[in-house]
Amino acid sequence: MTEFVSVVRGVGGYLPEKVLTNEDIAKMVDTTDAWITARTGIRKRHIAADGETTSDLGTKAAQRALDAAGLTPDDIDLIVMATATPDYTFPATATIVQHKLGITRGAAFDLQAVCSGFVFATATADNFLARGQFERALVIGAETFSRILDWSDRSTCVLFGDGAGAVVLERQERAKAGDRGIKGIHLRTDGRYKDLLYVDGGPSTTQTVGHLRMVGNQVFKHAVGKISESVLASLRQANLAVNDIDWFVPHQANQRILSAVAERLGLEEGKIVSTVATHGNTSAASIPLALDAAVSDGRVKAGDLVLIEAIGGGLAWGSALIRV
Ligand code: ACO
Repeated sequence: MTEFVSVVRGVGGYLPEKVLTNEDIAKMVDTTDAWITARTGIRKRHIAADGETTSDLGTKAAQRALDAAGLTPDDIDLIVMATATPDYTFPATATIVQHKLGITRGAAFDLQAVCSGFVFATATADNFLARGQFERALVIGAETFSRILDWSDRSTCVLFGDGAGAVVLERQERAKAGDRGIKGIHLRTDGRYKDLLYVDGGPSTTQTVGHLRMVGNQVFKHAVGKISESVLASLRQANLAVNDIDWFVPHQANQRILSAVAERLGLEEGKIVSTVATHGNTSAASIPLALDAAVSDGRVKAGDLVLIEAIGGGLAWGSALIRV
């Protein structure tokens, strides 16, 4: 049987035009630019315009990833969309993106793993491609977290932003792909910690959308250890070592977490791709947005080994190693 591997063909990102600075937020709640910058590294974030939806952001990022790959929507037969802020309770936002792109074949569905969504979506698409069930996938992370924030809660509203990122993954025969492709993936969840980070509404409970609630310092305590263990598991799976990693493209929750994970793993600070200062935490969109930034400015080049990782609500966490 032919052995397939999933190879990155293109990356794209989209950020809404409106920018909200720390100074802007300091006019809304009792906070300061100095506190936000020191505790998180965030200086500003993008906010979707009125009427601009998650599917709008996701479609734009997907189109840019297709352009970067030199492909058209007709080349895609699978969309896996990671989002915790769907346009509607149903149908899946992925089907709305599918329609906006003009794709009428294959399958599209949403995946809910909050901030870890892009890692889980990559793993899901990879499994379909490796089994030969689909040819080319758009893996999208898109969020409008501004719509589920409690803008009177200074402990959460300063952290998040809106945006979308997308990657085109293509099935290639292992023998022809060389060393490229997804080398290792590790996923974990533990629902015992569901109350540390959740939204206090939903169709089946309150019949409302709800607002994000987080015990930030508790999440922080879990983050560094769990992420580091996951990265080591992915490395073992791929038979690779920390020194083999060229670029560390983490979920952008907090600069202190990124730096602490890099330090624990023994990764040089210069290998970290950080967009947290200008994007804030865009949940499932943060990894593909950061990857897009590093590909666009020439840091990440063909053949580099990229490490992605995330932790978020669930708790759900994971990592993947991709030779791009
Ligand atoms: N401005 C000023 N003061 C504030 C603010 C603010 N915006 N927010 C909280 N404070 C205060 C608190 O009230 C508290 O005051 P007190 O000591 O008088 O009670 C003090 O600052 C310290 O609060 P902590 O929550 O302990 O601060 P910490 O250093 O932990 O920083 C933060 C908070 C930034 C949220 C941090 O805990 C964090 O980044 N956690 C991880 C977040 C994360 O990774 N989430 C996962 C991904 S998100 C997802 O999955 C959707």
